Amino acid sequence: MKRGGDIQKAEGKLGVLIPGIGGAVSTTFLSGVEMIRRGLALPIGSLTQMGTIRLGKRYEKRVPKIKDSVSLASLDDMVFGGWDVFPEDGYQAAIQAGVLRNENLDVARPFLEGIKPWPAVFNQAYVKNLSGSNIKSQTSHLELIDAIKADIETFKREQKVSRCVMIWCGSTEAYLKPSEVHSSLSNFETGLKNNDPSIPPSMLYAYAALTCGIPYINGAPNLSVDIPAMEELAEKNQVPIIGKDFKTGQTLMKTILAPGLKARMLGLNGWYSTNILGNRDGMVLDDQDSFKTKEESKLGSLENILQPDIYSDLYGNFYHKVAINYYPPRGDEKEGWDCIDIFGWMGYPMQIKVDFLCRDSILAAPLVLDLVLFMDMAQRAEMTGIQEWLSFYFKSPQCMEKLYPEHDLFIQLMKLKNTLRYLIGEEQITHLGLDYYYEP
Ligand SMILES: NC(=O)c1ccc[n+]([C@@H]2O[C@H](COP(=O)([O-])OP(=O)(O)OC[C@H]3O[C@@H](n4cnc5c(N)ncnc54)[C@H](O)[C@@H]3O)[C@@H](O)[C@H]2O)c1
Repeated sequence: MKRGGDIQKAEGKLGVLIPGIGGAVSTTFLSGVEMIRRGLALPIGSLTQMGTIRLGKRYEKRVPKIKDSVSLASLDDMVFGGWDVFPEDGYQAAIQAGVLRNENLDVARPFLEGIKPWPAVFNQAYVKNLSGSNIKSQTSHLELIDAIKADIETFKREQKVSRCVMIWCGSTEAYLKPSEVHSSLSNFETGLKNNDPSIPPSMLYAYAALTCGIPYINGAPNLSVDIPAMEELAEKNQVPIIGKDFKTGQTLMKTILAPGLKARMLGLNGWYSTNILGNRDGMVLDDQDSFKTKEESKLGSLENILQPDIYSDLYGNFYHKVAINYYPPRGDEKEGWDCIDIFGWMGYPMQIKVDFLCRDSILAAPLVLDLVLFMDMAQRAEMTGIQEWLSFYFKSPQCMEKLYPEHDLFIQLMKLKNTLRYLIGEEQITHLGLDYYYEP
């Protein structure tokens, strides 16, 4: 790993490769980047662009912006390409997604019209509620991987790109339990040769990226790089990987509230979460197999934060339910309700209700930006394999097998900022603070 001035500088163009480039998250991200580059919008929600990092002691008052303290690519140096099952250009796709107002889309239109999705690697067995026409004709796994690599090579050449990052913003694939073929790189490569049906499209994209030395981020809950075979490949090729499932609406709220309840040692009887959602993501999740993938990802956070095994009196027996209902009239403007049954002193019950009228893609777009920029930096710093310090951005953060994932948003943020401090050669901040009082 490289630190400080040894980290390779962010020079030249950064190519952002997006499977699912025609989706709501992607087109909202792309439109926003263009508006920000033109000075017409602020990068709200983006830690890399708006966040600061305290360096040194409190009295030093050194609190630069993150983007001014670590070597990140500039938004002006980013170029974009990607795949989608639907052939519409970025502008048409953004209209279809229905997230942004016309006045925003009109400004971004020339840029968005230049984004033409490459034919996708697609297998309907993994996304039952979707059928499109922009699909690669090759049929074997190995041919499809070669076709993805050829797209990447053409893009790099045409756009004169010096580095790339790939981020999966494609639909949630059907639930898949890791099996023998995912358990090691050699098994996986045998599976590729045999066209093993347990290898979904997202893994073909990921394999293509990692074998080209391109960092891979998984924004959806499907396994993708969260299998031993991909971890082995990432280490072998010295590429960073991270996933999975962007932490946006309801789970973001959950990982903000649950640490607070636990900090005050308040008990929990139950947490019922339900959502209505009407975009294409909602339609895909209306299929039970895709929903199961999402459900698994959403359920993990509470158990992990509350540690029922350690705090059995408080959290030993709580009921946790998550539901998502497809309701087209709402489009991307999801509504998420949480009914939280807590108890306090002497066991007296209390209730908390959360009604979050959020906009899914508006919350997800800045995460895409941050993740791309941080993963590009990780690659230049020669950080390989799982980038656990980016757990902050995920519902179901990937980590080493012998560890448990960290879900608490505040621990995640501290981990992220301390990693940045470490990389730039600054002291870690533990928030101990006793030294101000006891050490002259
Ligand atoms: N919006 C959020 O807040 C949020 C949060 C967490 C995770 N996610 C996940 O991010 C992903 C994108 O969300 P979205 O709202 O943009 O969904 P979306 O349905 O609007 O976009 C997904 C796009 O992926 C395309 N696609 C599907 N399979 C593909 C393949 N094999 N290759 C290339 N393209 C493919 C679809 O055609 C579609 O255009 C979903 O998996 C979603 O679950 C979104």
